[in-house]
Amino acid sequence: MTTRTRILTGITTTGTPHLGNYAGAIRPAILASQDANADSFYFLADYHSLIKCDDPQRIQRSRMEIAATWLAGGLDVNRVTFYRQSDIPEIPELTWLLTCVAAKGLLNRAHAYKASVDKNLETGEDPDAGISMGLYSYPVLMAADILMFNAHKVPVGRDQIQHVEMARDIGQRFNHLFGKGREFFTMPEALIEESVATLPGLDGRKMSKSYDNTIPLFTSAKDMKDAISRIVTDSRAPGEAKDPDNSHLFTLYQAFAGKNQIEQMRRDLLDGLGWGEAKNRLFKLLDDQLGEARERYHHLMSRPSDMEDLLLIGAKKARAVAGPFLQELREAVGLRSFQNHDNIIIRNAKSKTTKGSRIVSFREGDSFRFRVLAADGSQLLLSSKFADGKKAGAVIKQLQSSQTFDIHSDNLGFSVWLEGECVAESSAIYLGAEERDAAIKAVRVALTPIED
Ligand code: TRP
Repeated sequence: MTTRTRILTGITTTGTPHLGNYAGAIRPAILASQDANADSFYFLADYHSLIKCDDPQRIQRSRMEIAATWLAGGLDVNRVTFYRQSDIPEIPELTWLLTCVAAKGLLNRAHAYKASVDKNLETGEDPDAGISMGLYSYPVLMAADILMFNAHKVPVGRDQIQHVEMARDIGQRFNHLFGKGREFFTMPEALIEESVATLPGLDGRKMSKSYDNTIPLFTSAKDMKDAISRIVTDSRAPGEAKDPDNSHLFTLYQAFAGKNQIEQMRRDLLDGLGWGEAKNRLFKLLDDQLGEARERYHHLMSRPSDMEDLLLIGAKKARAVAGPFLQELREAVGLRSFQNHDNIIIRNAKSKTTKGSRIVSFREGDSFRFRVLAADGSQLLLSSKFADGKKAGAVIKQLQSSQTFDIHSDNLGFSVWLEGECVAESSAIYLGAEERDAAIKAVRVALTPIED
């Protein structure tokens, strides 16, 4: 079974994406998702946006704009699981389970929270003035985003590295407390793309909404042109040699041009190309590269219900992973059904199974059932209901003593049949044939008779 690398990242939905967001995060993420070995989870971190913004209109507009930007930029939703964080109720639930193991001292050290405290202290305010529990717990919600899907790689900006480390910390603590040797959570790694340029803005500082120096991405060609005309350059006149390596206009050009175009531009600047002409070329380049995507963007923005449909499909895919996993986590911490667990009346301690797998019988109302658990505790099979314990025991025995049962499988799961009767069914939702077949194999192993 090949394991693909699970790449997960979220975008906080508070603003309108600009050229810097596109080149620095969106474009590389879309490219990475095209790798056959990548299993990408990309989402709109709209719960996170509530921490920073209390303007509902803006939140809603930003969610739509960011969704449209990813889709217009060529994200293939059939390859990628693309969803809104707020469509996944398992995430806030996991956030709580993690909140209960996260050390307060760890969160005290989070940069964003500390910066707010420091600012308050500087201005002589109460240290916690204006600080919400949302801001304080921000890293726990982010840990839930990451751990819920067992991401291996998390592409983020440098300012987010600490949060990924906190996710590791919190996940490790949960594993330690409740895993009983099983690693529930994969340890994620922050992925900082060194090769991806942080684009400079109009004034040469990092392009950022907070510096008000951005170049708009998809609003209109005219807006883009206007912004480009405001790029700060030195005062050399046309005909005078320019220094390409000290020009952020050239840096912007390089982020979108091919090798030959870059060389040509470099030569022309050295030969005295005027800044006005250089700006025209940059505009032309961006318009060529992004013009079609801009049209797609406006088309998408005019049909929000199409985007809604796509995102709901994404949410369904994400929940097919999150739901069964959260169920296991709930069980691990002791949030278990009374019916299926506390009424265990016969523990088949003597039932012989291989490699630590277990068969557990229990009573449910008037009937009797059993589960087959894999060595890691996950449930492979849940039996049908039997009228008496003897019958259930006989079926277990029959399953174990012969390998003559049949397994029928469909897309989502499988069932076990003895003499034309369905005696048990898989309960997890398997995402693909590979995972399902691995579970079937595990069932066969668990039911292999052992010689005394
Ligand atoms: N905090 C991230 C940011 O502001 C957004 C985010 C939320 C995120 N959850 C995440 C990024 C999970 C990566 C993984 O940039």
